[in-house]
Amino acid sequence: MTVGLRDRERAALDRAVALAARGLGGTSPNPAVGCVVLDAAGDVVGEGWHARAGGPHAEVVALREAGERARGGTAVVTLEPCDHTGRTGPCSRALLAAGVARVVVGVPDPTPQAAGGAGTLAAAGVDVVRAGPEDARGALRVNESWLLAQRLGRPHVTWKYAATLDGRSAAADGTSRWITSSASRADAHLLRARSDAVVVGVGTVLADDPSLTVRDLPPTGDDVADAELATRAPLRVVLDADGRTPPGAAVRRGSGPGAGECLVLTAGDVGRGPRGGVDLHGALAALHARGVRSVMLEGGPRLAGAFLDAGLVDRVRGYLAPALLGQGTAAVVTAVTGASMDAVARLEVDDVVRVGPDLRVDLVPVR
Ligand SMILES: NC(=O)c1ccc[n+]([C@@H]2O[C@H](COP(=O)([O-])OP(=O)(O)OC[C@H]3O[C@@H](n4cnc5c(N)ncnc54)[C@H](OP(=O)(O)O)[C@@H]3O)[C@@H](O)[C@H]2O)c1
Repeated sequence: MTVGLRDRERAALDRAVALAARGLGGTSPNPAVGCVVLDAAGDVVGEGWHARAGGPHAEVVALREAGERARGGTAVVTLEPCDHTGRTGPCSRALLAAGVARVVVGVPDPTPQAAGGAGTLAAAGVDVVRAGPEDARGALRVNESWLLAQRLGRPHVTWKYAATLDGRSAAADGTSRWITSSASRADAHLLRARSDAVVVGVGTVLADDPSLTVRDLPPTGDDVADAELATRAPLRVVLDADGRTPPGAAVRRGSGPGAGECLVLTAGDVGRGPRGGVDLHGALAALHARGVRSVMLEGGPRLAGAFLDAGLVDRVRGYLAPALLGQGTAAVVTAVTGASMDAVARLEVDDVVRVGPDLRVDLVPVR
């Protein structure tokens, strides 16, 4: 495999990442994959993305659009083409049949059953090129959840919270609606729509009675992606050791687009954790077994702290309002960190964006 992309391939890989992102929240337990086919002159002649498990792979969709124009051309794929016959045939075979001369791979496939596509293609005389670390960033990011789940055998966890600038996620009287702006809340719904499951603790259910549905999605600028996102209904999960979730709770109501199935996990289902509550490893294993690869943890502070203490937060998304409360609940309650600076949990900032009047900060824990 050689390294080094041409300019048009670099642009095609960026486009393939955007195509792949359309599948987020819809493909699990499969990865989200995008593919762009360039003809021999380097012009785009086909685009494809994987929409759902069991459906056609991105390469097959893009090759179908390209037809004969793929011959002698280049296929640019976010993830190494598969080499196995699952619910669909191997993409390596489809690429060979289409006569592509070159394949650009964003990220190698780490799964033993699907990997090997690059080798098969190279053995057949195709020039296989792997993107370097800088070029591969988008492809890595779009499949961050799936790649971590492959590696660790549990879903990827993004903890999302909203807080004032002084880190309060509820006022002293327990009220927490609304700390951040409607723009931030709509933005957070995009994250819900792209996640396989939304998780809260029973404390949040008892305090706020949230529905945890996907709604009020802001336009993303991609009409096809918007139509896909409107169909999403992530699993709604309550971690509730003793089954205190009321029968009439909003999280149990509704079904269809926007309102996913509700799953209340008790200690009886997944075991009790060392500090009470449900066992978080057991809860994540149960979700993984149901095909969940990406979890959006929506709190509250106690459950978020337990996830942090257990080393089970992989990404943090904070919406910070330009407001001060002075008192009230801290955004996170942990048992491990906080006693002294020796115990501080360090995070690395990945991205900062202004959303309406608020700041959106994406961070990853330093491990
Ligand atoms: N601003 C925000 O982003 C945001 C988000 C969510 C909530 N909130 C606010 O947070 C407040 C509620 O806080 P909270 O801390 O009580 O809510 P929480 O973290 O949602 O719920 C805590 C409860 O979850 C259960 N749980 C199950 N497994 C657990 C485990 N392994 N570790 C810890 N807890 C586990 C425990 O009850 P059992 O032992 O009975 O299972 C625990 O008491 C409300 O005022 C709400 O408005 C704010």
